Amino acid sequence: MNTLDAYVPAPDRYESMPYRRVGNSGLKLPAISLGLWHNFGDDKPLETQRAILRRAFDRGVTHFDLANNYGPPFGSAETNFGRLFAEDFKRYRDELIISSKAGWDMWPGPYGFGGSRKYLMASLDQSLERMGLDYVDIFYHHRPDPETPLEETMYALRDIVASGKALYVGISSYGPELTAEAARFMAEEGCPLLIHQPSYSIVNRWVEEPGEDGESLLTSAADNGLGVIAFSPLAQGLLTNRYLQGVPEDSRAAAQKSLSGDMLSAENIEMVSRLNDIAQERGQSLAQMALAWVLREQGDYGAETVASALIGASSVAQLDENLDTLGNLEFTKAELKAIDDVARDAGINIWADATASRVHGE
Ligand SMILES: NC(=O)c1ccc[n+]([C@@H]2O[C@H](COP(=O)([O-])OP(=O)(O)OC[C@H]3O[C@@H](n4cnc5c(N)ncnc54)[C@H](OP(=O)(O)O)[C@@H]3O)[C@@H](O)[C@H]2O)c1
Repeated sequence: MNTLDAYVPAPDRYESMPYRRVGNSGLKLPAISLGLWHNFGDDKPLETQRAILRRAFDRGVTHFDLANNYGPPFGSAETNFGRLFAEDFKRYRDELIISSKAGWDMWPGPYGFGGSRKYLMASLDQSLERMGLDYVDIFYHHRPDPETPLEETMYALRDIVASGKALYVGISSYGPELTAEAARFMAEEGCPLLIHQPSYSIVNRWVEEPGEDGESLLTSAADNGLGVIAFSPLAQGLLTNRYLQGVPEDSRAAAQKSLSGDMLSAENIEMVSRLNDIAQERGQSLAQMALAWVLREQGDYGAETVASALIGASSVAQLDENLDTLGNLEFTKAELKAIDDVARDAGINIWADATASRVHGE
């Protein structure tokens, strides 16, 4: 059979995935969403990419997250996704939430980085063309830019919504004060920010720490009506069994891109091994416990504190294991304490400088 006409999504795809409301909006996201940062560039076989995307949708993952520069090379994840979208998913466009972003490096010169209107508008047009879409569901400013007035970035996001090229807008890696400021600004403009996308995992808890004004990012986002989608909840693979017996050749760490050798220090691996023991006592793999932990009930907003865990996967088997997390999202107090007793910051927040680059909007 020709693979191009072969895809019929699983009829029971909406039966097991929980969908969680995003902040004060009417939008719901799957508890686990799939990101295309790694594993969807030109360095990976298109058929593996297709298999992962199909399996995700078959299991209720309605949200695929991209950015202008995902690859390698930059742009290729959107181009590859565009091809697979056209072949497999076009008929299901209204069942999908597709996001893209601009903010980090994309093209040479002063207009291919940052938060200017010039960059954001041009980049979104390019992303839509690569993906073959009329609009994205969510468009993000990918990181704070200390050189662009906050108003300029926010007006650009507002105008992007008004143009119909994005249904909702969000921000990523903004600290708690800047998030509150941006949210207030956009609320006054009648175009509320939908969502914040920060890094968050058992070994990278910056979003729980109080900022300058005493509020954490999680509280600031929720109090201002934004939902949170947590990226790299597996700490890029550290919080799985991937590195317990060394560095596999086909792993992200072996590729020496975003997951560096220091992140696999003996101390970190020892910690991961102890977390693995706790996971096994719960009857879960470490990856599953790490995802359940990000999605756990906490603070004033309970299970809505984090709307979705945004994972990556290099195979269908990894994706399946991760989605099986949803069978147990509950923790006892003793389990949470055992995790806290073992866990420390693993030094893996490579986005911290971008967050620190700007605390207030002035
Ligand atoms: N806004 C931002 O600035 C930003 C930054 C980073 C990421 N993101 C978003 O977040 C998404 C997820 O990021 P991420 O890929 O770093 O997330 P992650 O889920 O923490 O890490 C994914 C990696 O972990 C490994 N893995 C996943 N499941 C596994 C399993 N069950 N067993 C063993 N290993 C497993 C795989 O590594 P191998 O490839 O080695 O198999 C996989 O590529 C991105 O695609 C992107 O959409 C956003």
